[in-house]
Amino acid sequence: MKHTVAIALTVGALIGAAGAALAADNVSLPKGYEKWAKSKARVEPDRKSMFYGIHYIYVDKKAMKGYKTGGTYPEGSQFVAVNYSIKNEGGKQVPGKKTMIVVMKRDKKQTATGGWQFAGFSPDGKPSGLDPVRDCFGCHEKDAKDRNFVISTYANFK
Ligand code: HEC
Repeated sequence: MKHTVAIALTVGALIGAAGAALAADNVSLPKGYEKWAKSKARVEPDRKSMFYGIHYIYVDKKAMKGYKTGGTYPEGSQFVAVNYSIKNEGGKQVPGKKTMIVVMKRDKKQTATGGWQFAGFSPDGKPSGLDPVRDCFGCHEKDAKDRNFVISTYANFK
């Protein structure tokens, strides 16, 4: 019985801490991103990858100029990537269930992550509690140091 209480308290403390950190960072899923410029379907067939599945990248108006020219991104520029599982339909790979949403927003205060705010969301748009430094920035720093940490390119658009 005592044991149960201790666990409940610990879980509550963890959720409380995560909630406070998220509130401070003011992370939220941008509204209306589905109407932004959208990439072609991108397939990651490696089941071990965090991005396993089919994803689309959405780019807002502010970010588009830098994305097209490989230039810099004004404060507030945003990218959203939406990931789906892979469904086989008559031998064709099509998006199945939505599995994950990730966001990058230009924010010069985020010095530990290259001046971008990184945030992950569950399919229903709730913050997934991923840590920007530990869970996000490593790949972006490694793959796109010379492109302002934006990995994909405009060539993936129609
Ligand atoms: C395993 C390496 C890896 C990790 C970890 C990772 N990413 Fe990425 N991310 C990528 C790759 C590769 C692309 C480009 C995909 C493409 O070209 O279609 C990308 C693209 C993106 C994009 C679209 C803009 C761009 O850079 O092309 C966003 C937004 C994004 N990631 C956010 C995140 C967030 C938020 C996290 C942490 C929750 C994260 N990523 C963790 C590899 C990673």
